Amino acid sequence: MPLPLDYMDTVEKLSEIPEDSMIQLVYVSSMTFSSRLRASVFDEVEAHARNYNEQHGITGTLCYGNGQFLQCLEGEKGEVLTLQKRIFADKRHKNVQILSLKNIHQRSFQDWRMRLLFLERWLWSPATKKQAVQLSPFLPFAPHGWTPQRTGQFITVINTFDNPPHIKAAGITYNAMGNMVKHFAAPHQAFLIVQGFLAILLLLGLYLLSY
Ligand SMILES: Cc1cc2nc3c(=O)[nH]c(=O)nc-3n(C[C@H](O)[C@H](O)[C@H](O)COP(=O)(O)O)c2cc1C
Repeated sequence: MPLPLDYMDTVEKLSEIPEDSMIQLVYVSSMTFSSRLRASVFDEVEAHARNYNEQHGITGTLCYGNGQFLQCLEGEKGEVLTLQKRIFADKRHKNVQILSLKNIHQRSFQDWRMRLLFLERWLWSPATKKQAVQLSPFLPFAPHGWTPQRTGQFITVINTFDNPPHIKAAGITYNAMGNMVKHFAAPHQAFLIVQGFLAILLLLGLYLLSY
């Protein structure tokens, strides 16, 4: 279990942060295969986190995209670390890695929200496409190993989004596995469309020949 202490030189040492101060913790993790098969994971996490985080003065964001979670938690040191231990022990994700941990004087986020970064460009509205320009330096979404600087830049961008590019905006829901399939389909759309068209022509030809 990776603990904040001694994690990386660039991560501020936990012990050097005063007990009564506020901290911001950003970590990444990968959703487990079994969780990807269940669409309800997002709802479960969101329902729990919304109540708990509000009661414990924790703000921030939970981003999901490309099978990866990136979560930013801000609040009193003790509160954040208590929650961090529970989250890190959660079996619904793995490969947990802390990207940044620092003492903060003011929060970046006013509340806690989940932001699902579904990356199917063809589903995005014009407004979403505008937002996506800011996001594009961080895509494809693979946050493991990001430096604290890059992490900070991402947090700044995501903080400006009320509604980041996400599937709910398009009124469509499907599970994370379906999302994975679409991750393959999206970048190869033109190829798949042409191939599909040719396959239809071929089938039509065979059908006509058989008469
Ligand atoms: C990626 C991820 C992020 C989570 N974020 C939060 C959160 O911000 N707040 C929260 O209360 N639970 C969050 N959870 C759920 C906790 O891991 C845990 O299930 C919950 O706190 C219940 O803890 P318990 O099983 O020890 O009772 C998250 C889970 C995952 C997988």
